[in-house]
Amino acid sequence: MEKKNRNILSVRDLQVQVRTKEGSSTLVQNINFDIKKGEILGLVGESGSGKTVTSMSVLQLHDRKSMDITGSITLHDRELNGLENKEMRKIRGKDIAFIMQNPMNAFTPVFTIGHQFIETIRSHTSLKNKQAKDLATDMMESVNLPDPDKLLKKYPFQLSGGMLQRVMIAMAACLKPSVIIADEPTTALDLHSQLLVLRLLDKIRSKYGTSILLISHDLGVISEMADNVIVMKQGRIVETANVYELFDNPQHEYTKKLLRTRPTLYSQKQPYTYML
Ligand SMILES: Nc1ncnc2c1ncn2[C@@H]1O[C@H](COP(=O)(O)OP(=O)(O)OP(=O)(O)O)[C@@H](O)[C@H]1O
Ligand SMILES: [Mg+2]
Repeated sequence: MEKKNRNILSVRDLQVQVRTKEGSSTLVQNINFDIKKGEILGLVGESGSGKTVTSMSVLQLHDRKSMDITGSITLHDRELNGLENKEMRKIRGKDIAFIMQNPMNAFTPVFTIGHQFIETIRSHTSLKNKQAKDLATDMMESVNLPDPDKLLKKYPFQLSGGMLQRVMIAMAACLKPSVIIADEPTTALDLHSQLLVLRLLDKIRSKYGTSILLISHDLGVISEMADNVIVMKQGRIVETANVYELFDNPQHEYTKKLLRTRPTLYSQKQPYTYML
């Protein structure tokens, strides 16, 4: 049985450098964090602070010809950094799923949602077409998508951003990955869809014990969702804390500034209402 406090994902001394004609430049450095089973780790920081570069490193999605990734990234004690693409493809989607900021980019425009959903399932399992379709339909129902059979026949452009985001979450959750990396999963959405998506992520975490790395600009989202938070600035982590500590007693000047300038999450009944 899995030990309760075990780290599922650990990152140690991660550094990412990009090689250019003028020499190499460091995008992120000294990145260290752990995520335990069922934990949501929030990652905040201003635009350009290195949040996406960090998450792409965990997923090993950087182009190795131009990027150097050093340090260690372990998933269930298995080293991912430097793993062959073929091996990494088996892990991505199955053990670590990725929810992207722009759902339109996550789908190919020329295939139906059903085709893409079923292919994703089949590429990681031995399920037959019909079984994969049933799993897709079940997952879509569990994320409250209406009429899954009809939706599976549609093309990505026929769905709204909020619907596509929910399909992407259903796809991310359907193979019960240990970790979901959600990079700004709600930024492109209206308030109602934002809430739906956040509730879904929380439901997936509690139902399957999924660990989630939740990247967001929005401190309101982080305060609602995260157990622990890391704050990034200019490619480095400037503060790591439990969510309550961070909001009640921020240590770093930059975190204090972020908190002062945040749109305030005002009441439990009206989450994400911005104080004037
Ligand atoms: N492929 C790349 N080649 C060169 N530089 C890059 C590359 N990808 C990102 N960068 C640079 O790395 C830095 C961090 O970018 P990153 O996308 O991680 O920021 P971010 O924190 O995700 O910002 P945002 O909140 O806007 O999404 C930026 O200065 C960016 O220009
Ligand atoms: Mg980003």
